[in-house]
Parts: sequence; C-alpha cells; structure tokens
Amino acid sequence: MIDLTNNTCPAEDPVQAAYRHTRQATLVLCEPLEIEDYGLQAMPEVSPPGWHLAHTSWFFETFILKPFAGGYRPFHSAYEYLFNSYYHGVGEQYPRARRGLLSRPGVREILDYREYIDAAMTGLLADVDHAERATILQRCELGLHHEQQHQELLCTDIKFCFSFNPLYPALGRTPLAVPASARRPLAFMDFGGMDARIGYDASGFHFDNEGPAHRFHLPAFRLADRLLTNAEYRAFMEDGGYSNPGLWLADGWVWKEASEVAHPRYWVQRDGEWFEYTLHGLSPLDPDLPVSHVNYYEADACARWFGKRLPAEQEWEAACRQLGCVPEHAPVMLHPRAAGGDGGIVQMFGSLWQWTHSAYSPYPGYRPAKGAIGEYNGKFMCNQMVLRGSSCVTAPGHTRSSYRNFFYPRDQWQFTGIRLADDP
Ligand SMILES: [Fe+2]
Repeated sequence: MIDLTNNTCPAEDPVQAAYRHTRQATLVLCEPLEIEDYGLQAMPEVSPPGWHLAHTSWFFETFILKPFAGGYRPFHSAYEYLFNSYYHGVGEQYPRARRGLLSRPGVREILDYREYIDAAMTGLLADVDHAERATILQRCELGLHHEQQHQELLCTDIKFCFSFNPLYPALGRTPLAVPASARRPLAFMDFGGMDARIGYDASGFHFDNEGPAHRFHLPAFRLADRLLTNAEYRAFMEDGGYSNPGLWLADGWVWKEASEVAHPRYWVQRDGEWFEYTLHGLSPLDPDLPVSHVNYYEADACARWFGKRLPAEQEWEAACRQLGCVPEHAPVMLHPRAAGGDGGIVQMFGSLWQWTHSAYSPYPGYRPAKGAIGEYNGKFMCNQMVLRGSSCVTAPGHTRSSYRNFFYPRDQWQFTGIRLADDP
C-alpha cells in the first residue's frame, strides 16, 4: 500500500492524499541537491535527477492523462520522446546513455512540468463519475509505486555519480550515525521441507511479476538470521577472495578480471585504512554494518568462501512468511544500520536488497498486460537475478514478502547485500 501516514489533511480523499504525498516525497529527496547535480549521469545505467523528476511525470501523462483526461493538452510535444524510458509501445526513446546531455529542459521547467501534471491529475482524480474511473485509479496506483521506485533510484544513482567526486558529497545533512549495538554472532535458522505458497495472494496492490501465486516444493533449508557485515566480507577479501578463481562463477571471474574490482563498490583505502563512501559522506569503515553495494558475483563468491550459498527466492519468501516478517513503515535512511536485537531473524526489510540465486523469470501462468503498460516488468525476464526484501532507501510501504526486484549480476550500484543460506 502507498504510505498515507503523512496525510495531514484527514478530510482529503485517500487517493488524492496518496498522490500528493508520494509526489511531494520525490521533491523532498531532491532538496539537498545543488542545481549542478541535476544533470549528473556517470554511466548509462544511472539517470540524472532531473530526468527522474520528468520521467515520473511523463508516466502519469502518458498512461493516464493522454488516454483518459478529455481535452488534455501535453505540456511539451517533445517530452513524449525525451522522457520515455523503454516503452516501445509508446514510441521512440531518447538514448538512455545520453540523458546527461539534456541540460534543457532546465530544472525550473521540469518542476513546471511536474506542477502541470499534478494539476491535471488532481482534476482527473476529482472526477468520481468518470466512465474509466476504475482504470484511472488502477493506473494511478501503479504510477505512484513507479514513482516510489524512482525515489530509490534517485538515491542510488546520485550516490554513484557523487562517488567519483573526491569531495565525496553528502545527501544527508548529518554524519553517518552509528548507534552502539552489541556485536551479533551469525546464526542460522532451520526450516523444514514444505510446499510453500509463493507469490502475491491477497487483494492489495502488487506488480504483475509477483503472480500468479502458486505452490513450490522446497526441501529443508537454513537461512542466516542477519546480513553479512563489513568485517565478515573483509575476512573474505583478506583471505584472497578476489584472487581465488575457485570461488567465482565463470562469468563473475571474467567480470572481476576485466573490471579489476577488488572490494565493494564504495570502499576507499587511504594510508592502509578502509573507509566507506555513504550518502552521509566518507566515513571510516564500520565493521558491524552490513556489507553493501556488492554485485551477484561478489555475493556468490563470498558465500562460497563461507562454505554456504545464496538463498533461492522461494526460500527467502517462505521464511519471511513463516516468521511473519513485514516491512516497517520507517522513513528512508541513507545507509543501513547494524543488526540489532539478540535473537530472531533481522534485516529482511529496510536494510539492503538481498541477492538470491534465482534467475528472474516468469512464474507459472504469468502473462504481461496487453499494450505498452505490459512492458513494465515482463520484458526484463532474461539474464537478471532476483533480489528480495528492500533497502534503507526504499520508500516506506513500497515492498512486501512477495516483491521481486531484479538486477544484472554485474550491478553494484544498488543498495545490495548478502544473506547466506545453507542446506541442513
Ligand atoms: Fe520508470
């Protein structure tokens, strides 16, 4: 469900409130940015903040206002092309790798575009007698969840771009706060074999890739009760983890050799000491924080070094359901915290996305929706791996136990971590 907890106007229609709150949350995330930051694009996979602000508005314009708002006039005729991400059913797209060259429209005009879309959406949502009301509400909810996904991408993308700046800019206004917590030993929880119910089976919002719900036979398995820490990952590194081909998948070894990577994406060594770039700036590497920004190859190699493996996505979901883990409606944090508590499974949500060894592929019976909107998830079901949970920069209320995130095995710039699994 979209988070309505910040609704300060109780009399407001809940859909209008959700729309207003979610759109506002995107702007709040951008408040610490300087005007020069809005065009940064350090690699094709990341998008400049200005593009995210425009594209999320484009989504409402393209899939709701143009088809359903009678007499709607587009804000600018070129925006359909400029801010189309990947929807061939809509038309041609401006090349993804060149989004950083779009200094025009400037930030002011992009914000005008957002206001224009918001005004039109507010008017359309107020038309409770609209003949296509049900479809409008359905697409509006999808648009808000899409906006939340881009809120997270705003954070991950600007972190990647900032990391090339020796000043290590911060998005947070305060240094990284590390609450004192007892060091928690790594333990494994046992789960018996089961016919698990997998996929979304309730009546709320979910993405199409979470269904259809189905039974999946799982042999007994074990799952780590917390994420791996920086100290544990460092032990893997210092034992020659990055120079032992026996620990690596073949594709991973090729990636590692070609990229010459030898540590997690944002670790920085100075005078023999390790530091970590976070959205609070550069901080001494905290051994107890979960290791973050590792890709699938690194996660898999580290798991092998531990004599363990990564979980299957069905193991993760079944454990989550059995233990009743649900995401907290906690505000976005710019860096994950250390594992707290002294028992039970932790960090399933709100810390780091957790790599699974499951390829991102359709569930039995999956069919994408017809038309351009069907391009949202289905066409990416090839060569990517599933990540489960959520991260510290995931919007409150965005995920659930059936949520399937997906990235390429080489990708390091998301807030990704490692939860080990094992066989009994
Ligand atoms: Fe998008």
